[in-house]
Order: sequence, then structure tokens, then C-alpha cells
Amino acid sequence: MNSRPPAAIRIAVLRTEDAPAYKRLRDASLLRAPEAFSTDYATAVTRPPIIYAARFSQPGKGPFTLGAFTDDDRLVGSLGFERAEALFKRHIGHINAVMVDVHFERQGIARQLLEACIAHAEQLAGLDMLQLGVTASNERAVRLYQRAGFRIFGREPSAVKIHGVGHDHLLMVRPLPGCPALNLPAS
Ligand SMILES: CC(C)(COP(=O)(O)OP(=O)(O)OC[C@H]1O[C@@H](n2cnc3c(N)ncnc32)[C@H](O)[C@@H]1OP(=O)(O)O)[C@@H](O)C(=O)NCCC(=O)NCCS
Repeated sequence: MNSRPPAAIRIAVLRTEDAPAYKRLRDASLLRAPEAFSTDYATAVTRPPIIYAARFSQPGKGPFTLGAFTDDDRLVGSLGFERAEALFKRHIGHINAVMVDVHFERQGIARQLLEACIAHAEQLAGLDMLQLGVTASNERAVRLYQRAGFRIFGREPSAVKIHGVGHDHLLMVRPLPGCPALNLPAS
């Protein structure tokens, strides 16, 4: 592998004013990698940017979205976090919608987004673990998550169906410090 210096990126929690840039990144990602998402491009492209702002609160206050910004403040990557309201589910955080602008891939931006999310998650009281679902054929993303400490615990057959073709999801978990021992399949 030709190693390049990692991209100089600023990771920040997205705010309402980032919604248009987030929509541009998201629509482009849905178009180029439809099987990586649950929402289809044709539906998403009609949505106004402001609806995404509901996902942009601060860590500890609800769902949050992290953005990766270049030094000229261009949003080139993002990652979503949410946590159920239900008391018996509050110990699990979910990562979703991880995406990096195609022109900025393979520079460690997704890795930096994951590391920042884990650092935020470690500060959230009562949170034991992070979970996510990833398309089984998306080997690059699976490797990315494994390097960040995620382990596969299951498989959801035909989790998304696109033009009649089902795509399985691998279910992955990343215990946080203090998490009780999890009964995971041997890797
Ligand atoms: C999957 C995705 C998020 C990865 O983003 P990324 O920023 O390219 O990820 P990283 O750069 O952290 O790592 C990707 C690869 O680049 C390599 N890399 C990272 N920094 C590098 C550097 N400085 N020099 C060379 N290679 C590097 C990593 O080792 C990794 O290699 P691998 O694919 O052989 O395992 C991105 O490709 C994407 O948005 N895909 C479409 C949407 C998607 O699939 N999202 C996942 C949903 S679960």
C-alpha cells in the first residue's frame, strides 16, 4: 500500500448551518454507494436540508453527527450517532451513515471520525457499547470498523433490498470501557 500522510482534518459536531453541506455529501454518497444506506437517493434528493438538522445536537443531549472538515472548511466526511430513549436500551449507541467524499477517501478520514465518536461515547453515562450494521460485501468498511475495535456478532439476511437484490448486513459491536463481558461469537 502507498502510504500518504493522513489528511489534516478538523472533526466537529455538525450544527444547523452545516445542513446544506451535509445534504450534498449525503446525496452524493447515496448515489454512488446505494447499498451502504437504508434510504434511496431518489427519495433523499427531494428532502430539504433542514430536516437533517434534527440529528445535529451535542453529544450527551441526543443524536449527534460528526463532520470532517478540510482546512478551508469544506465538509468531506460525516458519521451519525443515536441512542434509544427507552430505558432498557439506553446502554447501546448506534453509529449510522458513515460517509466520506469520494475525492477524499483512503486518507484516514473515516478512521478519524470513528475515533472521535468513540471518544465522545466514552463520556456518555451508562453507555456500554456501540453497534452498527454494515453491508457484508463492503469489505473496506468492515475492515475499517474491525480496526476500530468492532467485532461481528451477527448477520441480518437481506437487510436492504435494491432493485430486487437483497444485501446482508453484518452486525458489529464495539464495547466501551466498563462494558460488562459480552457473549460474542468466537472470532
Ligand atoms: C467506507 C468509507 C466511509 C471509508 O472512508 P475512508 O475515509 O476512505 O476510510 P479510511 O481512509 O479511514 O480507510 C480506508 C482505507 O484507506 C487506507 N488509508 C487510510 N489512510 C491512508 C493513508 N494515509 N495512505 C494510504 N492509505 C490509507 C486504510 O488503511 C484503508 O485501507 P483498506 O481499505 O485497504 O482497509 C468510504 O469509502 C465511503 O464513504 N464509502 C461509501 C459509503 C459507505 O460505504 N459507508 C459505510 C457505511 S457502513
